Amino acid sequence: MAIIEIEKEIQVKSSDRVRNHGEVLTARREVEAMLDLVKNESERIDSRFLEPACGDGNFLVAILERKLKTVVSRYKTKKADFEVQMLSAISCIYGIDLLQDNIELAIERLFKIACDCYKQTLKSAPDEEFQNALKHILRKNIIQGDSLNGIDKIIFTQWTLVGYQFKREEYSFSQLNQQAEVLNTPLFASLVNEKGEDVYIPQPINDYPLIYYRSLGGLK
Ligand SMILES: C[S@@+](CC[C@H](N)C(=O)[O-])C[C@H]1O[C@@H](n2cnc3c(N)ncnc32)[C@H](O)[C@@H]1O
Repeated sequence: MAIIEIEKEIQVKSSDRVRNHGEVLTARREVEAMLDLVKNESERIDSRFLEPACGDGNFLVAILERKLKTVVSRYKTKKADFEVQMLSAISCIYGIDLLQDNIELAIERLFKIACDCYKQTLKSAPDEEFQNALKHILRKNIIQGDSLNGIDKIIFTQWTLVGYQFKREEYSFSQLNQQAEVLNTPLFASLVNEKGEDVYIPQPINDYPLIYYRSLGGLK
């Protein structure tokens, strides 16, 4: 008999956490209904999502599951393609939360979903090198921070898939979030759109050479 593990749905962990951090987690049904409003984007492997108060990951988990369905349907027959597309899906999901225990849980849940999907699809567990690549991306994307008052300290990596390699560029959250306030800084290049209006593109604070997807786990 197959044992199906169903996560218990907990919306309130303690009254202290509700009082101190407003932590009331969204139920799966509402998460799915909200994601259905952006159905195509939620299912697209390389659409980027950021949850600035992600809790223990209820939205992130549902987004990953949707993206992985697409990965499985398109790439299940070739291991390298499946692996790199799975990493691409994960690399487009970002989360911030004030509470470190939520971050740890969110990472754990996303990691487990990815590993379970890998096992079910390729009929073997991911090896250590691939697991480390998954963990590396998750640790860079799902981070503890204050998304209201601490955005200068939050650094995100933008991952761009180029064949079987990733390009990594780092941006501060304040760059991405407060575009209006930084329009006049030298960090921002001014370009003109098709209507002749200025558009401003943030410049990365760091960028790195292309790296083979399986080598990501070896990075700091
Ligand atoms: C209402 S819960 C929602 C969690 C999750 N988005 C969900 O729907 O299940 C709010 C979350 O925001 C976090 N939070 C509160 N203030 C925050 C801040 N300034 N920056 C980042 N996270 C914050 C809390 O720790 C809590 O996990």
